Amino acid sequence: MLSSNDYLGLSHHPKVIEAGKRALEAWGSSTTGARLANGSRRYHLALEEMLADFLGKEACHVSAAGYLSCMSGVATFARKGDLILVDRNAHSSLWSGICVSGARVERFSHNNPADLQDILSLEPRSAPKLLIIEGVYSMEGHIAKIPQFLKITKGQNCFMVMDDAHGLGVLGRQGRGTADHLGVTKSIDVIAGSMSKALSSTGGFVAGSREVIDYLRTNSKQTVFSAAISPCQAACAQAALEILQTEPEHLQRLWENTRQYTQMLTELGLDTWGSVSPAVPIVLGSKALAFRFWKSLMDKGVFTVMAVSPGVAPGKDLIRTSISARHTQEDLEKIGEAMFKVVKELF
Ligand SMILES: Cc1ncc(COP(=O)(O)O)c(C=O)c1O
Repeated sequence: MLSSNDYLGLSHHPKVIEAGKRALEAWGSSTTGARLANGSRRYHLALEEMLADFLGKEACHVSAAGYLSCMSGVATFARKGDLILVDRNAHSSLWSGICVSGARVERFSHNNPADLQDILSLEPRSAPKLLIIEGVYSMEGHIAKIPQFLKITKGQNCFMVMDDAHGLGVLGRQGRGTADHLGVTKSIDVIAGSMSKALSSTGGFVAGSREVIDYLRTNSKQTVFSAAISPCQAACAQAALEILQTEPEHLQRLWENTRQYTQMLTELGLDTWGSVSPAVPIVLGSKALAFRFWKSLMDKGVFTVMAVSPGVAPGKDLIRTSISARHTQEDLEKIGEAMFKVVKELF
């Protein structure tokens, strides 16, 4: 398995499994209702408090899916007349939020502060703006150039939303995410994301100031009209958060594995698009080659995911691979042997 988002390998951790079982027994399978109606429970509040603290924000709201949270983190805070500035490679959930907001949209080229600056130079400084980025881009493995973006948007009445689905648990102290890694937590207004990656559960979150989160709880359609995260999934996410803070070996192993794997791909002459995260693309440049690469790896027992245009930009057709702390040295060697054979066959 070379394409899981279980970055820290916690989906099989005994403490996570035990926490899920206990929550099922204590609370049942579902709240069968939305948070604002009949769906809020003590364990939701406990998870939100823990996550807010971990991310360095005052408050947090959790939902049943990362997609919903990321969508609501945009849709709730932009309206007709506002300007949304968005990285063109932003995740579909963020685009869904943009679509329902009714705001005007300008997209800048991927992770390119100079392009953002050009767009901003044509806009009134005081007009309300929302900047939307990912912390770690899930297809490319790039880390957002947040300090440069902050410099450009200073004094521009700009509210910043970051989707850190692939940064949480992976970057920063104890896995506190991209903002912590770059030392910019205070400057980001909203950190949204998913608990289905490094936290090895399902569900999403939006974190920010108390005022912002209170507003979201009652004004976000994605929140008001959708059932709460289940007891079991909330408990699993909370257990994973505890493990992040008490067992540093998982994060350490993730990065050791990532370095070894990325180096191996580079030595084979493969194009990893400059990835600096455990999400490592292998850019092949055409659909046909991407398919043959994917199939050949699959025949050798290595599962990956193929991403081709229009899912990625034309000419960037790729195989998305991702590394986990659960990969053993033996796994990495087998993957290396398979990659070597595929490269010999196809190039
Ligand atoms: C960057 C990003 N944001 C949001 C999501 C949505 O998360 P979930 O799968 O938990 O709904 C994903 C998942 O693919 C993602 O990669």
